[in-house]
Amino acid sequence: EVKGRMLQAMRKGLSRQTHAQANVRMLPTYICSTPDGTEKGDILVVELCQSHVRTLRVTLLGDGNQSPQVTYKIFDMPGDIIQGKGEALFDFIAQCVRQFLAGISSPQHRLPLGFVFPFSCRQTQLDKAELISWSKGFSCSDVEGKDVVQLLQLAINKQELHHVDVVALMNDTVGTMMTCSMRGEPCEVALIVGTGTNSCFMAEAQQVEMAEEISGKMCVNTEWGCFGDDGTLSDILTPYDQHVDQESSNPGEKRFEKLVGSLYLGEIVRHVLTALVAEKVLFTGSSVAILRTKDVLKTQQVLEIIDKEEGMAKARRALEALGLQPSEQDCCRVQQICRAVVSRAAALCAAGLAAILSHMCQSRELERLVVNVGVDGTWGSRVTGLLAPECTATLLPSVDGTGQGAAVVTAVALRLAAQRREVDQLLAPLRLSRADLERVQALMRREMELGLGLESHASASVRMLPTYVRGTPDGTERGEFLALDLGGTNFRVLVVRVAQDGIRMASEIYVIPTAVTQGTGEELFNHIIECIMDFQLKQNLMEQVLPLGFTFSFPCQQLGLDKVRGRLCWTKGFSASGCVGQDVVQLLREAAQRKQHLGLKVVAVVNDTVGTMMSCGYDDPKCEIGLIVGTGTNACYMEEMRNVGTVEGEQGRMCINMEWGAFGDNGCLDDIFTDFDRLVDEKTINAGKQRFEKLISGMYLGEIVRHILLALVEKQLLFRGKPCPKLQTRDIFQTKFLSTIEIDGLALRQVRAILQDLELQASFEDSLLVQKVCQTVSLRAAQLCAAGLAAVVEKMRENRGSAQLAVTVGVDGTLYKMHPRFSQHLQQMLRDLAPNCTVTFLQSEDGSGKGAALVAAVACRRAEP
Ligand code: BG6
Ligand code: GLC
Repeated sequence: EVKGRMLQAMRKGLSRQTHAQANVRMLPTYICSTPDGTEKGDILVVELCQSHVRTLRVTLLGDGNQSPQVTYKIFDMPGDIIQGKGEALFDFIAQCVRQFLAGISSPQHRLPLGFVFPFSCRQTQLDKAELISWSKGFSCSDVEGKDVVQLLQLAINKQELHHVDVVALMNDTVGTMMTCSMRGEPCEVALIVGTGTNSCFMAEAQQVEMAEEISGKMCVNTEWGCFGDDGTLSDILTPYDQHVDQESSNPGEKRFEKLVGSLYLGEIVRHVLTALVAEKVLFTGSSVAILRTKDVLKTQQVLEIIDKEEGMAKARRALEALGLQPSEQDCCRVQQICRAVVSRAAALCAAGLAAILSHMCQSRELERLVVNVGVDGTWGSRVTGLLAPECTATLLPSVDGTGQGAAVVTAVALRLAAQRREVDQLLAPLRLSRADLERVQALMRREMELGLGLESHASASVRMLPTYVRGTPDGTERGEFLALDLGGTNFRVLVVRVAQDGIRMASEIYVIPTAVTQGTGEELFNHIIECIMDFQLKQNLMEQVLPLGFTFSFPCQQLGLDKVRGRLCWTKGFSASGCVGQDVVQLLREAAQRKQHLGLKVVAVVNDTVGTMMSCGYDDPKCEIGLIVGTGTNACYMEEMRNVGTVEGEQGRMCINMEWGAFGDNGCLDDIFTDFDRLVDEKTINAGKQRFEKLISGMYLGEIVRHILLALVEKQLLFRGKPCPKLQTRDIFQTKFLSTIEIDGLALRQVRAILQDLELQASFEDSLLVQKVCQTVSLRAAQLCAAGLAAVVEKMRENRGSAQLAVTVGVDGTLYKMHPRFSQHLQQMLRDLAPNCTVTFLQSEDGSGKGAALVAAVACRRAEP
């Protein structure tokens, strides 16, 4: 019965949904393997025990743990420390470390320290562990809820031991398991039955839902001492157990531990004796007041009393030492009682162990489990019997406590920390400081000025193309228009009706195969006309000649709004031949003629940024900036005519299509490009062009990530250094994966699923690392975008000569809309870089076709006589 309940409690602790309410907490330890003998180094271990601190220096030689060298010292702990201030406890431990090091001619190079801390901790890494609650009589103030690793490190620093780094913390069960694993056969379970009781075992990682470990195994610290705290054991608790609990330092808690741990067994016996005295069946005639004193009977004595040979004599001696005068029968009864209490404890422990073994057997889908169990604690070796019949468990008594095992764990932690450092080094060039971003902002501003000037225009990397759009919508626009939207993820054909009561639209998405976007211009424009004709047919518009607004999201020079003289060049993977330098309207007209489609009247060509600004401007008159962060990236904004050197006239404003994607093509950003950016750029069809865009937009982020992952594999920091042929494939890592991988609270197993689709077998560490790479790349993109935008808003503010500017940005693009963090990072950084501007972001929901139609409406009105 108890085994069954323990199993249930364990499952509750493992599951993410029920973990918070579970008593048996099944805490992840982040230890994913038992020692393999390659562990190496000079390691310091500190064990906090009930009444002493043990310090060890272990030298591991990487020789299969044949001959670890161990030196140790034990320091007695003053009794009041365990209930005093937390600071005093950690100061004491640190002093022990200092004294120990002083006595062993310790080397002055960095010394990693592993801390064995036998209390229940919420661990999130090997070196991060928050104390959940004290037990076993400890109750130091100001420690619960704090990171114990940090507290120890602080105390150690206070002792000026600056070369000692606390790199791992572990529970004593874990240390025991690792110690017992060092002698050949791995040991996958450990049991501590000492002052308290606890166990740990190697669980199937995917079942440890709180750790999100996804493959292999992870050691789980069961903290089974709390089994029964929710009343699960109330039917087996005796009145004696209730008394013991009430008189303990943590009433109501650790109910299982209080039936098993040596801190309590003597107390249980004392309460039984007291009850029998009250019934007048024991010690008649003696003064029994002494039995009312807590802890007068030690567990050590209880264990001596149950001995077959000398037990009776020991019983007499123990009782007489308490001033009692026991008869022969009294001694016999006391022995019986002690046996009952101890064998109950042993049986309960065995039931718990049986639950662990059966769980392991089931979750590994084995018919039979053969396993070694490391056992430590003052009377651990007495625990036998009642094991799960399908499991063969060999109990290995731990000979050297937890120390050597702790050293091994520390060595592993050290290796991980070194890896973390290498990863950080590799990613460092992608992390931009505030000063870097300020410089990017200033450079953008400079390029903007150059792009606007008549003389300097030709040499600027930011082309600042005039659009001839002179104002945002004012609500008087009317009419029915066709619209095309070409250059984003989707090619769309639309019909837009602008009336007094609002705008109505119908649209259809058409696919343009890559072969067509990279074929001949003739094929591309033929295809577009075919799509238009299909749309008109479906919408019953064949008979009408509707004016057409064309969102064409490529750089394209215009000479007027309705006098379109597009001089285009391709970006974003388009490369249809014979188009560069041509007039896009002309190309469309020629295709129409080829297809004998006679009713096409193009009245306006607009960039998607402009379409987006106009579309959002219809709802918010403050919208004077358009931003796209999608396949490509670009921005437009309302500039003062007097500043636009490339167009005649000084009055009013004009929307400028910045074409900021090309920012840096003149080399001004060379020092922020990383090797990864250069690799990505080299493989594009427009190498050397659109360099800013290639740091930011959806078409390239996945590729940057892929190149970083390749470098990590090469440095043996990812996927265990195994070559990943699939990762060599260009564009295999799409930017949409970044968006998914970075979703807040996404389980790492989902990251793994994505990687698995790419035929990448990721471990827990791998998945975390991939997530970190994605975060680094998308954060940089958002921050660079913010630096660009900061230059724009600051210029607008200065143009208007005001101290403050409130402006709205109309935004579109898959990356902006789908990425879970991009917009947040962009807005945060922008606030930081342009503190005098209040910028509102308005997401375009209707695409830019609506805006193109609004521009067309203005063009038509102008054209009217
Ligand atoms: C769409 C607009 O919503 O967003 C297009 O209608 C624009 O004009 C596109 O080009 C940009 O985003 P993406 O992600 O499709 O490149
Ligand atoms: C590319 C194009 C630009 C467009 C942007 C967003 O940068 O050159 O015209 O606005 O992508 O789609």
